[in-house]
Amino acid sequence: MHHNVAPAKDRRLLDHLVDGQTDRGVKRGDNGAGAHPRHHLNRNLMADEASQHTEMRRAAQTSGAQDDANADGCRIETHRAIMVRSTIARRVLEKAAGARINDKFMARTEVIAHRGASAYAPENTMPSFDLAVSQDAGCVEHDLHVTKDGVLVCLHDRTLERTTNVREAFPRRGHDVREGGEIVRRWFVHDFTLAEIQQLDAGSWFRPDFAGARVPTFDDLLAWARNRVAVLTELKDPDVYKTLGVDPLALCEAALRRHGLMARPTDAAVTVQSFHAPTVRRAGELFVRRVPVVLLVEPADAALLRDPEHVSAIAEFASGIGPGKSIVGDSPEIVGWAHDAGLRVTPWTFRTATIGPFESVGAEMKYYLVELGVDAVITDHPDACPQYTP
Ligand code: G3P
Ligand code: CA
Repeated sequence: MHHNVAPAKDRRLLDHLVDGQTDRGVKRGDNGAGAHPRHHLNRNLMADEASQHTEMRRAAQTSGAQDDANADGCRIETHRAIMVRSTIARRVLEKAAGARINDKFMARTEVIAHRGASAYAPENTMPSFDLAVSQDAGCVEHDLHVTKDGVLVCLHDRTLERTTNVREAFPRRGHDVREGGEIVRRWFVHDFTLAEIQQLDAGSWFRPDFAGARVPTFDDLLAWARNRVAVLTELKDPDVYKTLGVDPLALCEAALRRHGLMARPTDAAVTVQSFHAPTVRRAGELFVRRVPVVLLVEPADAALLRDPEHVSAIAEFASGIGPGKSIVGDSPEIVGWAHDAGLRVTPWTFRTATIGPFESVGAEMKYYLVELGVDAVITDHPDACPQYTP
């Protein structure tokens, strides 16, 4: 169990800064992000689909553990100092630590940028991740899928057509599948090699000025994030990939080793999460004391958190829970149960389109952080999150 977060009750709100924050910028928080009432994606694979992916399986099987060389150079320094927010505290820390201070110490750990700053830039792309850092997010959340040749890439959907120009680039590579009684054509990530996916435009769908943005690999992201920002990695659909003979967790572990993140006890440079409990459990065993793991919980599965016993059982294998925000909104006592069990609580997803009775997404995030005491909020709008000081 890993627990390195200052209790919310110890954090002090800087109201004058909060009041200055509003939901700035374009209202693009609904860029498909809310279009998936269930996050376990459609599993209507073509009958012969699994047999079409020997190349993918081979690549996955050969991606064994690699050494932990460069461990020191690849680590984010520490998260302890990240809790500092105010100018005064910043100056004190700078004086105390001198040259060791850099931008990442100043980032806000309670702000997790969902697919990057995805209200303002195309989700899961480098422009979105860069903007999240510019908006002082302490952590960048992203999703992972697996290419035909066994490479982890940053994408939310298991198919490419919503966030890339795959229809135009590869018009004959789609498959007809049944979804909710309808036949629809889908372009599955696992049907495309990395080289093919890297030809795709992952920016134009969002706005023309993002034309040419590419789908990053997990390696790209880890190299970029080093010494810059923490990463929250979501493994999508590990159970579906298992039917294709691919283990995304093993690929993830190999990547973490390549980047020196499995060398010694964690400083939470990377956290791995999934909705798939068996994968989180396995990740907990695999990564113990090196990489924190989080169990994501859908609102429909709120019963997983129905009492202190169920919550503390999760602490046997995970260091945090990521509930849909309505779960803790409806049952705030879950936060206390989780903290008593040593679990962080990081609800999702805060965006302008789903603020309910709140006057702004900033006000909603403030309520969850200050009143409910969650450890961080996962948001499309990092810039709208209020400021804190320890
Ligand atoms: O970080 C949790 C959140 O990202 C889960 O929802 O569908 O955006 O991956 P989704
Ligand atoms: Ca996600």
